[in-house]
Amino acid sequence: MRKPLLAGNWKMNKTIDESVALVSELAEKVKGVDDREILVCPTYPALKPVADAIAGTNIMLGAQNIFWEEKGAYTGEVSGPMLKAAGCKYVIIGHSERRQYFGETDETVNKRVKAALKYRLLPIICVGETLEEREKDVTKKVVETQLKGGINGLTTDELLLTTIAYEPVWAIGTGKTASPEQAEEVHAFIRGLLPAEVKDTVRILYGGSMNPGNVKELMAKEDIDGGLIGGASLKAEDFAAIVKY
Ligand code: 13P
Repeated sequence: MRKPLLAGNWKMNKTIDESVALVSELAEKVKGVDDREILVCPTYPALKPVADAIAGTNIMLGAQNIFWEEKGAYTGEVSGPMLKAAGCKYVIIGHSERRQYFGETDETVNKRVKAALKYRLLPIICVGETLEEREKDVTKKVVETQLKGGINGLTTDELLLTTIAYEPVWAIGTGKTASPEQAEEVHAFIRGLLPAEVKDTVRILYGGSMNPGNVKELMAKEDIDGGLIGGASLKAEDFAAIVKY
């Protein structure tokens, strides 16, 4: 049985004070929920303050990216040991916004995934097609290439520590959610690509305009094990409602 994971990707939103206020309000609202995992991924400056604010609660902390080197002359990058020391358990890797605006490739995604595992952070690897790719009917090909590139060289034990997020780019921030059937088709396809020893254990999250109104029917699908939520995770009330779907 895969435990659902509801993860808030705050993207480039909220100052430190706003982040602490948001997570404190959320903690009140999701108190006692223990049959699913709750994760928030704030900006780098807010990681430690949020870690302190969620100490002793059922909320976990994640980062939005990781660099593969441990330290050195890499201006603007943040390493695994730094994220670990800030209290992170998870890290999002290869989000479509990273691929689109910051030149992330399957190869760099793979290097970041390996770095995360090396420093005992749990990677959430994002894959997903653009609208153009869906219209050209190459969704599965795109997702397969991204997935295989992202997990290339991982051992069975490492794969068991990995989470996949399917985020169709056309559904991100658009209010246009994939239908549960559309999402399930790709989730089942992704699961089928995973090695037999891990495929029933690895969680596959859906991301793209998930909200309190559509979470239940998405989560009812067999291969949808949680959500990676952007916009709706920025309001404690909405995110709490999603968590408690
Ligand atoms: P929205 O929930 O705002 O569509 O964002 C989804 C996403 O990109 C999460 O990583």
